[in-house]
Amino acid sequence: MKGIILAGGAGSRLYPLTLVSSKQLQPVYDKPMVYYPFCTLLECGVDEICLISTPLDIPRFRELLGDGSRFGVRIVYEVQEHPKGIAEAFLVGESFIRQESVCLILGDNIFYGSDVFRKAFEEFKSGAVIFGYQVRDPRRYGVVELDSEGSPISLEEKPSQPKSNLAVPGLYFYDNEVIRITRNLKPSARGELEITDVNRRYMEQGDLKVYPLHRGIAWLDAGTSSSLHEASAYVQTIEKRQGVKIGCPEEIALRRGLLESEGLEAMIEKLPDCEYKNYLEFVLNESMPLLPSHPSTELKPGRKDS
Ligand code: DAU
Repeated sequence: MKGIILAGGAGSRLYPLTLVSSKQLQPVYDKPMVYYPFCTLLECGVDEICLISTPLDIPRFRELLGDGSRFGVRIVYEVQEHPKGIAEAFLVGESFIRQESVCLILGDNIFYGSDVFRKAFEEFKSGAVIFGYQVRDPRRYGVVELDSEGSPISLEEKPSQPKSNLAVPGLYFYDNEVIRITRNLKPSARGELEITDVNRRYMEQGDLKVYPLHRGIAWLDAGTSSSLHEASAYVQTIEKRQGVKIGCPEEIALRRGLLESEGLEAMIEKLPDCEYKNYLEFVLNESMPLLPSHPSTELKPGRKDS
Protein backbone atom coordinates (compact mmCIF):
# COMPACT_ATOMS: atom_id res chain seq x y z
CA MET A 1 0.00 0.00 0.00
CA LYS A 2 1.23 3.47 -0.89
CA GLY A 3 0.94 6.45 1.48
CA ILE A 4 0.01 10.07 0.86
CA ILE A 5 0.58 12.94 3.26
CA LEU A 6 -1.59 15.88 2.30
CA ALA A 7 0.18 18.98 3.57
CA GLY A 8 -1.06 21.88 1.49
CA GLY A 9 -3.94 24.26 1.98
CA ALA A 10 -3.86 27.94 2.78
CA GLY A 11 -3.35 27.60 6.54
CA SER A 12 -5.55 30.64 6.93
CA ARG A 13 -6.72 29.67 10.40
CA LEU A 14 -3.14 30.00 11.66
CA TYR A 15 -2.50 33.45 10.15
CA PRO A 16 -0.03 35.19 10.64
CA LEU A 17 2.04 32.08 11.57
CA THR A 18 1.51 30.78 8.07
CA LEU A 19 2.63 33.93 6.27
CA VAL A 20 6.15 32.62 5.86
CA SER A 21 5.91 28.93 6.72
CA SER A 22 3.35 26.28 5.92
CA LYS A 23 1.05 25.04 8.65
CA GLN A 24 2.49 21.52 8.56
CA LEU A 25 6.01 22.86 9.14
CA GLN A 26 5.04 24.68 12.34
CA PRO A 27 6.53 23.19 15.50
CA VAL A 28 4.45 20.83 17.57
CA TYR A 29 6.56 21.00 20.72
CA ASP A 30 9.97 19.78 19.50
CA LYS A 31 9.33 18.66 15.92
CA PRO A 32 7.75 19.98 12.74
CA MET A 33 4.07 19.03 12.59
CA VAL A 34 4.52 16.82 9.52
CA TYR A 35 6.80 14.46 11.48
CA TYR A 36 3.78 13.12 13.35
CA PRO A 37 1.61 11.98 10.40
CA PHE A 38 4.81 10.80 8.69
CA CYS A 39 5.49 8.60 11.73
CA THR A 40 1.94 7.28 11.72
CA LEU A 41 2.46 6.07 8.15
CA LEU A 42 5.82 4.54 9.08
CA GLU A 43 4.25 2.77 12.05
CA CYS A 44 1.50 1.40 9.81
CA GLY A 45 4.13 -0.22 7.62
CA VAL A 46 4.04 2.15 4.63
CA ASP A 47 7.36 2.38 2.76
CA GLU A 48 6.51 4.60 -0.20
CA ILE A 49 5.13 8.03 0.48
CA CYS A 50 4.03 10.95 -1.65
CA LEU A 51 3.90 14.31 0.08
CA ILE A 52 1.53 16.78 -1.56
CA SER A 53 1.73 20.48 -0.84
CA THR A 54 1.62 23.93 -2.42
CA PRO A 55 4.15 25.04 -5.07
CA LEU A 56 5.63 27.43 -2.49
CA ASP A 57 6.04 24.89 0.30
CA ILE A 58 7.22 21.77 -1.54
CA PRO A 59 10.91 22.87 -1.54
CA ARG A 60 10.85 23.23 2.27
CA PHE A 61 9.33 19.79 2.77
CA ARG A 62 11.92 18.36 0.40
CA GLU A 63 14.66 20.00 2.47
CA LEU A 64 13.20 18.54 5.64
CA LEU A 65 12.51 14.95 4.60
CA GLY A 66 14.62 14.50 1.46
CA ASP A 67 14.08 11.39 -0.61
CA GLY A 68 13.28 9.39 2.53
CA SER A 69 16.49 7.32 2.45
CA ARG A 70 17.44 8.81 5.83
CA PHE A 71 14.47 6.87 7.20
CA GLY A 72 14.76 3.81 4.96
CA VAL A 73 11.73 4.71 2.85
CA ARG A 74 11.02 6.42 -0.47
CA ILE A 75 9.44 9.89 -0.47
CA VAL A 76 8.33 11.72 -3.59
CA TYR A 77 6.70 15.11 -3.86
CA GLU A 78 3.74 16.40 -5.87
CA VAL A 79 2.29 19.87 -6.15
CA GLN A 80 -1.34 20.76 -5.59
CA GLU A 81 -1.69 24.06 -7.40
CA HIS A 82 -4.81 25.20 -5.52
CA PRO A 83 -6.52 23.79 -2.43
CA LYS A 84 -9.38 22.20 -4.33
CA GLY A 85 -10.20 19.61 -1.74
CA ILE A 86 -8.72 16.74 0.22
CA ALA A 87 -9.90 14.14 -2.30
CA GLU A 88 -7.92 15.87 -5.04
CA ALA A 89 -4.89 14.15 -3.46
CA PHE A 90 -5.85 10.97 -5.35
CA LEU A 91 -5.77 12.80 -8.68
CA VAL A 92 -2.58 14.73 -7.93
CA GLY A 93 -1.02 11.49 -6.69
CA GLU A 94 -2.46 9.25 -9.40
CA SER A 95 0.83 8.46 -11.13
CA PHE A 96 2.37 7.67 -7.74
CA ILE A 97 -0.48 5.39 -6.61
CA ARG A 98 -0.57 3.51 -9.94
CA GLN A 99 -2.55 0.27 -9.49
CA GLU A 100 -2.10 0.03 -5.72
CA SER A 101 -4.22 0.75 -2.68
CA VAL A 102 -3.47 3.93 -0.76
CA CYS A 103 -3.49 5.32 2.75
CA LEU A 104 -4.10 9.05 3.03
CA ILE A 105 -3.18 11.06 6.11
CA LEU A 106 -3.78 14.76 6.64
CA GLY A 107 -0.64 16.68 7.51
CA ASP A 108 -2.19 18.30 10.58
CA ASN A 109 -3.54 15.13 12.20
CA ILE A 110 -1.60 13.72 15.14
CA PHE A 111 -2.32 10.28 16.58
CA TYR A 112 -0.84 8.60 19.60
CA GLY A 113 -1.43 5.53 21.68
CA SER A 114 -2.65 2.69 19.48
CA ASP A 115 -1.58 0.02 17.05
CA VAL A 116 -5.05 0.05 15.51
CA PHE A 117 -3.80 1.74 12.34
CA ARG A 118 -1.07 -0.83 11.79
CA LYS A 119 -3.63 -3.60 12.25
CA ALA A 120 -6.04 -1.93 9.83
CA PHE A 121 -3.15 -1.59 7.38
CA GLU A 122 -2.21 -5.26 7.70
CA GLU A 123 -5.79 -6.48 7.38
CA PHE A 124 -6.81 -4.17 4.57
CA LYS A 125 -7.89 -6.00 1.44
CA SER A 126 -10.37 -3.88 -0.49
CA GLY A 127 -12.96 -1.12 -0.21
CA ALA A 128 -12.33 1.71 2.24
CA VAL A 129 -11.53 1.95 5.92
CA ILE A 130 -12.11 5.00 8.08
CA PHE A 131 -12.12 5.50 11.83
CA GLY A 132 -14.60 6.98 14.27
CA TYR A 133 -13.49 9.02 17.26
CA GLN A 134 -15.86 10.27 19.91
CA VAL A 135 -15.69 14.04 20.35
CA ARG A 136 -17.68 16.53 22.38
CA ASP A 137 -18.42 18.80 19.42
CA PRO A 138 -18.45 16.93 16.10
CA ARG A 139 -19.62 19.91 14.02
CA ARG A 140 -16.04 20.75 12.92
CA TYR A 141 -15.52 17.34 11.33
CA GLY A 142 -16.78 14.67 9.01
CA VAL A 143 -19.33 12.77 11.10
CA VAL A 144 -20.29 9.11 10.73
CA GLU A 145 -23.43 7.46 12.07
CA LEU A 146 -23.46 3.71 12.72
CA ASP A 147 -26.32 1.23 13.03
CA SER A 148 -26.57 -1.27 15.87
CA GLU A 149 -24.28 -3.66 13.97
CA GLY A 150 -21.61 -1.01 13.61
CA SER A 151 -22.19 -0.46 9.90
CA PRO A 152 -22.13 3.12 8.64
CA ILE A 153 -25.54 4.53 7.68
CA SER A 154 -24.77 8.21 7.22
CA LEU A 155 -21.79 10.46 6.62
CA GLU A 156 -21.87 14.23 6.69
CA GLU A 157 -19.20 16.91 6.41
CA LYS A 158 -19.36 19.50 9.20
CA PRO A 159 -23.09 19.06 9.90
CA SER A 160 -24.80 21.77 11.95
CA GLN A 161 -26.89 19.05 13.59
CA PRO A 162 -24.67 15.96 13.83
CA LYS A 163 -26.40 12.58 13.88
CA SER A 164 -23.71 11.12 16.13
CA ASN A 165 -20.69 12.23 18.10
CA LEU A 166 -18.29 10.11 16.03
CA ALA A 167 -15.91 12.35 14.13
CA VAL A 168 -13.90 10.92 11.23
CA PRO A 169 -10.16 11.57 11.72
CA GLY A 170 -7.88 12.39 8.81
CA LEU A 171 -6.51 8.91 8.16
CA TYR A 172 -8.11 6.79 5.46
CA PHE A 173 -7.38 3.52 3.61
CA TYR A 174 -8.67 2.92 0.08
CA ASP A 175 -8.36 0.39 -2.68
CA ASN A 176 -7.47 1.59 -6.16
CA GLU A 177 -11.14 2.33 -6.95
CA VAL A 178 -10.63 5.61 -5.12
CA ILE A 179 -9.13 7.16 -8.23
CA ARG A 180 -12.16 6.36 -10.38
CA ILE A 181 -14.54 7.46 -7.62
CA THR A 182 -12.74 10.78 -7.19
CA ARG A 183 -12.69 11.41 -10.95
CA ASN A 184 -16.48 11.17 -10.95
CA LEU A 185 -16.99 13.49 -7.97
CA LYS A 186 -18.52 16.93 -8.34
CA PRO A 187 -17.05 19.74 -6.25
CA SER A 188 -19.14 20.64 -3.18
CA ALA A 189 -20.86 23.97 -2.59
CA ARG A 190 -17.54 25.31 -1.23
CA GLY A 191 -15.83 24.24 -4.46
CA GLU A 192 -13.86 21.30 -3.04
CA LEU A 193 -13.59 17.59 -3.82
CA GLU A 194 -14.73 16.36 -0.42
CA ILE A 195 -13.21 13.32 1.24
CA THR A 196 -16.58 12.74 2.89
CA ASP A 197 -18.16 12.36 -0.57
CA VAL A 198 -15.57 9.71 -1.43
CA ASN A 199 -16.37 7.86 1.79
CA ARG A 200 -20.11 8.17 1.16
CA ARG A 201 -19.66 6.60 -2.27
CA TYR A 202 -17.90 3.61 -0.68
CA MET A 203 -20.63 3.43 1.97
CA GLU A 204 -23.36 3.35 -0.69
CA GLN A 205 -21.54 0.48 -2.40
CA GLY A 206 -21.38 -1.37 0.94
CA ASP A 207 -17.59 -1.17 0.88
CA LEU A 208 -16.89 1.13 3.83
CA LYS A 209 -15.65 -0.19 7.17
CA VAL A 210 -15.53 2.04 10.24
CA TYR A 211 -13.27 1.14 13.14
CA PRO A 212 -14.05 2.99 16.34
CA LEU A 213 -10.98 4.35 18.12
CA HIS A 214 -11.03 3.60 21.81
CA ARG A 215 -10.88 6.42 24.30
CA GLY A 216 -7.23 5.86 25.26
CA ILE A 217 -6.08 7.02 21.85
CA ALA A 218 -5.11 10.64 21.40
CA TRP A 219 -6.22 12.27 18.16
CA LEU A 220 -5.21 15.89 17.90
CA ASP A 221 -5.77 18.06 14.91
CA ALA A 222 -3.43 21.01 15.00
CA GLY A 223 -5.27 23.27 12.58
CA THR A 224 -6.01 26.25 14.86
CA SER A 225 -3.81 28.27 17.21
CA SER A 226 -5.50 26.68 20.23
CA SER A 227 -5.29 23.12 18.97
CA LEU A 228 -1.68 23.68 17.90
CA HIS A 229 -0.84 24.85 21.38
CA GLU A 230 -2.74 21.94 22.96
CA ALA A 231 -0.96 19.44 20.72
CA SER A 232 2.42 20.88 21.76
CA ALA A 233 1.48 20.72 25.42
CA TYR A 234 0.28 17.13 25.04
CA VAL A 235 3.50 16.00 23.33
CA GLN A 236 5.62 17.79 25.91
CA THR A 237 3.73 16.21 28.81
CA ILE A 238 4.11 12.65 27.50
CA GLU A 239 7.73 13.12 26.45
CA LYS A 240 8.79 14.63 29.77
CA ARG A 241 6.95 12.07 31.83
CA GLN A 242 8.03 8.98 29.94
CA GLY A 243 11.36 10.00 28.49
CA VAL A 244 10.30 8.81 25.04
CA LYS A 245 9.58 10.85 21.97
CA ILE A 246 6.33 10.88 20.04
CA GLY A 247 6.82 11.24 16.30
CA CYS A 248 10.51 10.38 15.96
CA PRO A 249 10.86 8.84 12.46
CA GLU A 250 14.45 7.67 12.97
CA GLU A 251 13.38 5.64 16.00
CA ILE A 252 10.48 3.99 14.17
CA ALA A 253 12.70 3.26 11.17
CA LEU A 254 15.24 1.58 13.45
CA ARG A 255 12.56 -0.46 15.22
CA ARG A 256 11.00 -1.49 11.93
CA GLY A 257 14.39 -2.59 10.62
CA LEU A 258 14.31 0.01 7.86
CA LEU A 259 17.52 1.49 9.25
CA GLU A 260 20.60 -0.37 10.46
CA SER A 261 22.13 0.90 13.70
CA GLU A 262 25.34 1.78 11.78
CA GLY A 263 23.30 4.02 9.48
CA LEU A 264 21.66 5.76 12.41
CA GLU A 265 25.00 6.16 14.13
CA ALA A 266 26.49 7.83 11.08
CA MET A 267 23.49 10.12 10.86
CA ILE A 268 23.71 11.07 14.54
CA GLU A 269 27.34 12.10 14.11
CA LYS A 270 26.31 14.74 11.62
CA LEU A 271 23.70 16.33 13.91
CA PRO A 272 24.40 19.47 15.91
CA ASP A 273 24.49 19.03 19.68
CA CYS A 274 20.86 19.11 20.72
CA GLU A 275 18.25 17.27 22.69
CA TYR A 276 17.06 15.38 19.60
CA LYS A 277 20.58 14.06 19.04
CA ASN A 278 20.77 12.95 22.69
CA TYR A 279 17.51 11.09 22.25
CA LEU A 280 18.68 9.30 19.11
CA GLU A 281 21.84 8.26 20.97
CA PHE A 282 19.64 6.90 23.74
CA VAL A 283 17.55 4.95 21.20
CA LEU A 284 20.67 3.57 19.59
CA ASN A 285 22.26 2.48 22.86
CA GLU A 286 19.13 1.22 24.52
CA SER A 287 20.12 -2.15 25.93
CA MET A 288 16.71 -3.05 27.35
CA PRO A 289 14.41 -5.06 25.07
CA LEU A 290 12.26 -2.59 23.19
CA LEU A 291 8.71 -2.41 24.45
CA PRO A 292 5.99 -2.19 21.83
CA SER A 293 5.14 1.50 21.54
CA HIS A 294 1.40 0.83 21.80
CA PRO A 295 -0.83 -1.67 23.56
CA SER A 296 -2.35 -4.33 21.34
CA THR A 297 -5.85 -3.52 20.17
CA GLU A 298 -8.51 -5.84 18.87
CA LEU A 299 -9.68 -4.60 15.50
CA LYS A 300 -13.43 -4.83 15.09
CA PRO A 301 -15.82 -2.64 13.15
CA GLY A 302 -18.68 -1.57 15.38
CA ARG A 303 -20.05 0.79 17.91
CA LYS A 304 -18.47 -0.43 21.09
CA ASP A 305 -15.64 1.39 22.73
CA SER A 306 -13.00 -1.33 22.99
O1 DAU B 1 -9.15 16.52 10.71
C1 DAU B 1 -10.15 15.66 10.25
C2 DAU B 1 -11.10 16.39 9.34
O2 DAU B 1 -10.33 16.88 8.22
C3 DAU B 1 -12.22 15.46 8.85
O3 DAU B 1 -13.07 15.09 9.92
C4 DAU B 1 -13.05 16.15 7.77
O4 DAU B 1 -13.99 15.24 7.25
C5 DAU B 1 -12.15 16.63 6.65
O5 DAU B 1 -12.88 17.37 5.67
C6 DAU B 1 -11.07 17.54 7.22
O6 DAU B 1 -11.66 18.71 7.74
P1 DAU B 1 -10.82 20.07 7.92
O7 DAU B 1 -11.76 21.20 8.13
O8 DAU B 1 -9.80 19.85 8.96
O9 DAU B 1 -10.14 20.18 6.52
P2 DAU B 1 -9.12 21.27 6.04
O10 DAU B 1 -9.72 22.01 4.89
O11 DAU B 1 -8.61 22.07 7.20
O12 DAU B 1 -7.92 20.39 5.47
C7 DAU B 1 -7.27 19.43 6.24
C8 DAU B 1 -5.79 19.38 5.87
O13 DAU B 1 -5.61 19.09 4.50
C9 DAU B 1 -5.06 20.69 6.11
O14 DAU B 1 -3.84 20.39 6.73
C10 DAU B 1 -4.81 21.30 4.76
C11 DAU B 1 -4.85 20.10 3.83
N1 DAU B 1 -5.49 20.42 2.55
C12 DAU B 1 -6.81 20.72 2.52
C13 DAU B 1 -7.43 21.00 1.33
C14 DAU B 1 -8.91 21.32 1.29
C15 DAU B 1 -4.74 20.38 1.39
O15 DAU B 1 -3.53 20.12 1.43
N2 DAU B 1 -5.35 20.65 0.19
C16 DAU B 1 -6.68 20.94 0.11
O16 DAU B 1 -7.18 21.17 -1.01
